[in-house]
Amino acid sequence: MTSGEIRKKYLEFFESKGHRVIPSASLIPENDPSVLFTTAGMHPLVPYLLGEKHPSGNRLVDVQKCIRTGDIEEVGDANHHTFFEMLGNWSLGDYFKKEAIEYSFEFLTSKEWLGLDKNRLSVSVFEGDSDAPFDDEAFEKWKSLGISEKRIAKLPKKNNWWGPAGEIGPCGPDTEMFYWIGDPEKTPESFNDDNPEWLEIWNDVFMQYNKTAEGNFVPLTQKNVDTGMGLERTLAVMNSLDDNYKTDLFCPIIEKIENLSTKKYDGENIKAMRIIADHLKATTFILGDEKGIAPGNTGQGYVLRRLIRRAIRYGKQISLKSFTKQISEVVVTMYKDVYPELSKNKDFIFNNLNQEEEKFEKTLENGLKEFEKGTNPFVLFTSYGFPFELTKELAKEKGIEIDENKFNEELKKHQDLSRTSSAGMFKGGLSDAGEETKKLHTATHLLRQALEIVLGESIRQKGSNINSERLRFDFGFSRKMADEEKQKVETLVNQKISENLPVNKVIMKKEEAEKTGAVHAFGDKYGDEVSIYYIGKSLDKAWSKEFCGGPHAENTGDLASIEGPEENPRDKERKRIFKITKEEAVSLGVRRIKAVLE
Ligand code: ALA
Repeated sequence: MTSGEIRKKYLEFFESKGHRVIPSASLIPENDPSVLFTTAGMHPLVPYLLGEKHPSGNRLVDVQKCIRTGDIEEVGDANHHTFFEMLGNWSLGDYFKKEAIEYSFEFLTSKEWLGLDKNRLSVSVFEGDSDAPFDDEAFEKWKSLGISEKRIAKLPKKNNWWGPAGEIGPCGPDTEMFYWIGDPEKTPESFNDDNPEWLEIWNDVFMQYNKTAEGNFVPLTQKNVDTGMGLERTLAVMNSLDDNYKTDLFCPIIEKIENLSTKKYDGENIKAMRIIADHLKATTFILGDEKGIAPGNTGQGYVLRRLIRRAIRYGKQISLKSFTKQISEVVVTMYKDVYPELSKNKDFIFNNLNQEEEKFEKTLENGLKEFEKGTNPFVLFTSYGFPFELTKELAKEKGIEIDENKFNEELKKHQDLSRTSSAGMFKGGLSDAGEETKKLHTATHLLRQALEIVLGESIRQKGSNINSERLRFDFGFSRKMADEEKQKVETLVNQKISENLPVNKVIMKKEEAEKTGAVHAFGDKYGDEVSIYYIGKSLDKAWSKEFCGGPHAENTGDLASIEGPEENPRDKERKRIFKITKEEAVSLGVRRIKAVLE
């Protein structure tokens, strides 16, 4: 049976039971700050679970694309994925436990539908606690369908309760279905949820409560059913495969990885190939979603970046280089009929993958060398932009202990420092020292000077923070900037960029340095010797000079150029410009500007 057939059968079965098919929602939740991604079919339906009327009625069925990164460490085994498709049927205040369980049982075991062996089926139900009672209705229903008591486990909330993903929202007890994937001749009489050969394939959730902010479980006036069946697992089960990566939902990807690496999917290559296949599939779907999420340092963009970077690192283990786009092309083709958004957005997907891969190759090269030398994880992070997660993984592989608390303490100090950092301590504000951050650091000096010219001398630097994507600059000023003022500042900075001014450093005694008129923070402690960065032909005639530890671009003209020496030839014509993306208050009398080179 193919994945296409299962999707079709599922929708058909529930349509025959009066359900209406609804399309998969976006992977990026709308108006739901509690989760970064849609992790289950229920997410986009929360308003309807709480009583809103759904335009398609109160019996729905769908195939929902999902991303779960909670157990990313388990990816690499045969059946955990970051991206997967969830088959789901819904009752919004219509049928409840009896019908839900009957439908599940019929779909799983009827010859007309999946035709799975009833004798290899086990289930679990909620055992009850102080919030909600034992689910005897579900228990009795399964028994009446011929599931023996030994195959019905009664388990606590940890196992048999679902939702809410955030702290509050609709939730309730569930009943889970497991299929024996071991030797059919040796199917155990009793169910044991510790045995991975009992594979969970479906979950029927009975939403009868709303969890409030106070932690109370208030019965919902409308009782709902929310079910979730993992397509990848079900497909493997239907084809008697013990490995989801051998099904049609992964085979073409694995084959491509085999071809590119000229290695076989066996032995020690298996784990790396699975992780690459899984992560790049997830990546393709996130980038291909209509929301235009790109790799970044926060939120969804950060998860995306982490997935891509992890795939690349595992790619190294099997000697893959510049491969992410080629894998992604396979994913787009595989899913083109079911998820046409992938083909529609393929340029966005491929461009972002190429860019991120180039960027990370550089980071990785430098970072790995430093790791081998035994460089402190914090220095790896701040000076080489090397992700702490990777340091942790590398250390684990090599059996080295990493002090995570120490890292977090250092990070906190570093962040505090960057909040209060001023000229002389600027280094504390750089979260990594790649080419981009150097350029943005130089842009910050240009910005400071431009602000002084446009707004008057009263402005004072209060803090600065730079990452590879944007600069952030806090300064003392009593009101919101007018649009004309922002434009003037941008124009001035861009003018200085186009003048190709050199950026230089001199070191001198503090007293002497102060006489040059270089900007520095009052009250800050400096050593006897300080360094001044100045922008312009000479210190005397410099357009900007500041007490500063660097590092900087060599020339303001560099700020307009696209990253690095191996830039894409197509980009040569393109020049970037300095742009203010935000101007806002951070506290009384302190404004914050965010700006980019775009
Ligand atoms: N929302 C339920 C789950 O994800 C069906 O398991």
